[in-house]
This record gives sequence, C-alpha cells and structure tokens, in this order.
Amino acid sequence: MFKSKLIALAAISFLIPFSSVAKAQSAELLHWWTAPGEQGALHVISQALASSNPTIDLISVSGGGGDNAMTVLQAKALAGTMPFIAQIEGAHIDAWDAIGLIQNLDTIAKRENWDQSLYPLAKQINQNDQGEYVALPLTLHRMNWLWVNEPLRKQLNIAPPKNWPELLAAMQTAKSAGITPLSLGSDEWQVALLFENLTLSLHGKDFYQQALVQLDPTALNSDKMRQTLHAFRQLSQLVGRHIPHQPWNEATSQLAKGEALFQIGGDWILGELLAADVAIPDTINCYAMPGTEQHFVYNMDSFIFFKINTIDKKSQAQIIEQLSSRTLQKQFNLKKGAIPVRQDIDLSDFTSCQKRAAAAFTKASESGLAIPSMTDSMALPPVAQRAMTNELFRFFMQSNISEQVLIERLISIAQAEI
Ligand code: GAL
Repeated sequence: MFKSKLIALAAISFLIPFSSVAKAQSAELLHWWTAPGEQGALHVISQALASSNPTIDLISVSGGGGDNAMTVLQAKALAGTMPFIAQIEGAHIDAWDAIGLIQNLDTIAKRENWDQSLYPLAKQINQNDQGEYVALPLTLHRMNWLWVNEPLRKQLNIAPPKNWPELLAAMQTAKSAGITPLSLGSDEWQVALLFENLTLSLHGKDFYQQALVQLDPTALNSDKMRQTLHAFRQLSQLVGRHIPHQPWNEATSQLAKGEALFQIGGDWILGELLAADVAIPDTINCYAMPGTEQHFVYNMDSFIFFKINTIDKKSQAQIIEQLSSRTLQKQFNLKKGAIPVRQDIDLSDFTSCQKRAAAAFTKASESGLAIPSMTDSMALPPVAQRAMTNELFRFFMQSNISEQVLIERLISIAQAEI
C-alpha cells in the first residue's frame, strides 16, 4: 500500500505538466512522444481519431526512451485507472500480457490481415508465446545510425568514418577545432545506446548477442568486453564530462545548428530533423554506425490496449482498426523518421535515410543480422535492462569505476536474471 502510493506520487509529478483534464466519454492514450518531431507524428494519430467516440485524451509523459512513462503506467494500473491505449516496447508487452490486463487482438488482426501485412519481426514482437496478438506495432526504428553534420564534416576535411578508430580520430579532430564531437542527451539510455553500438561495431553480432541479449557471464567477463569498455571510456573522456543536461532532441538541434559534428542513435532523430525542416541528406546525412553497416539494430514502438469496460467493444475495435490502417501507418512513419511495420506500404515518399533503413532491414533480416536493442527494451526483461543501463551510465560518468568492477556488476545482474 505504502509502496504503491509512493510510486503514484512520483508518477503524478511527471504527469502534471502534460496531462489533459479527464472528460466523460473519453479514453486515454499514454505515450512519451514529447519532442517536436514525435509530436508531429502523434498529430497524425490525433487527427485520425479526432472524431472517434469516445474521444482520445493524450497523456504525455516526458522522458525519451519511455522509462518515466512505464513508471506512470504501473502507477495507473495499481490505482485502477489504466489508459485505454499505452505506447510500449518489446519486453514490456509480455510483462503486461502475463498479468492479464491487456486485450487479445486476434479477431481484429484476422479481420485486418495482420499476418499478411506485417513483417515477421513485427508479428514475433507483438504476439505472446501462444502466438496471439496482444499489441499493435507502429514503427520500426534503426538504432545503429551515425548522424553527421555534412557541412561541418567537409569543413574539417573528414571522410565518413568506416570503423571505430576512424570515428574516434574524426571526433578528436573536431574537438581540436573547438567543435563538440558528439552531441548527446544526458539520459542514462542515451549513454547505454552508445555502448551497444560500440559493442556491435567492435565485435559483431555473435558477441553482441552473447553479452547483451543472453547476458552470458563468460562473454561479460571476456577480453572482448574489456576492449569494448576501454573504447567506451575513451569516448567518455572525449565527451563525457561535457554532457549538458538535455534531452536527446536538444542534442539533435545542436547537431542541426552545426554546433556538433555527430549524433549516434535511432531514427527518431530523423523525425526531429524533418520537423525542423533540416535538409536531408545535404545538411544532415545518415551513415550506419561505423563497423555495423550490415546490421540493423531494431527498436519497435507498439500500442497495447487495456481491458476497459467503460467503452463499448465495437468502438474499441474501430479505434484499433484505424490505428492499424495502411494510411495512418504510412503518414505516422513519414513524420516519425522510422520505417513502417507493414510490408504493403510504398516508400517512394520517404526520405533517403528511411529508404536506406528499409533496404538495410531487408538485407539484415535475410542474413540473420537484424538484432534487438538492449537499451531500448527489445532484448532483456525490463528490470535487467534498467539495471544494465544504469551501471553503464555510472561507468561512463565516473572514471573511478574500473572495468573489472563494472564487469562484476553486470555479471550480478546476469545471475539475478538467470
Ligand atoms: C524510443 C521510442 C521512439 C522514440 C525514442 C525517443 O524508446 O521507441 O519512438 O520516440 O524513444 O523518445
């Protein structure tokens, strides 16, 4: 009782600035798309549902990556005030399905032919172990992108880096010229995302899977891990102490304004650039994170639908069908910077970066190189993922934490998980 009240209070402090006042005959959609680019994409959804009955109230919870939103969702569930719709990712879907609070979407999926239209990966992520749809997928984001300010790169006479040593050298050149080498948000997941990119860049898919997906203690305590941590520390020495207190999208504006050379991260960065009318690829171009060209590290946004008895079943189904429609999914992803989860959407209106993401996804899927993001809830159960992210962030920020101490902490997380 005491515990749940504490969580609820913490949650309220996130909610106050953004939530709308509850109305009769309305249903809530809880999400963490608060950056301008994300809001532009969300607008596609609110427009499409503008005349729905019940009306949809958007409940925004600040904090990219969704950690705050997940805390609020838990608090609302404990208080019995679940939203009708909640934005969710990967492993969290199973957790909510396991406690029986969310809807089975099989009837709608059958009527709308999800089996035919969705990529197999989208099916796998949004179905439970019994093969039932329990979530509706919306986006397929590529996480292993290096976003580059092209005028700055040319001014500094730097070739697009092809591997970690070249990326490091390029960042050193920028730093010596007084330019921020890598723009970075100060959230923990922003830093953990650098680590997963480095792991893949230095050691490839098998090691990534062993260390960050299977949490294999031998991989965690290996020379490969020590090499990755060494590179991670080099990166922190280059940028770490100068991380301004800012969300990821402010880091993107730094990049767009030519105040920083690079940003590493998912293609929601593209959505942000598009909302700010930045020329793609002339001003900002996308390159695969050096050393990961053949890979596609994925993250997928989905919606889950809570079992709500204040809205009639037919209205609920109409809203879910609308959200899964080809038109909405296309318009949403055009703005979001992601690629659609439906295979039947024509990409000719999409940006060159989105077309390259789609081609990279197809190729990586065929060669077994589409891999889940650890940082963004695609690989690990939520508790292990948060613990890993937190330890990696502390290591990045505190130079007195040794590689061995971090390795031991990661192994303890792995053992708690096994
Ligand atoms: C991710 C989410 C994306 C994006 C990002 C930053 O977790 O999948 O849609 O919005 O957070 O907020």
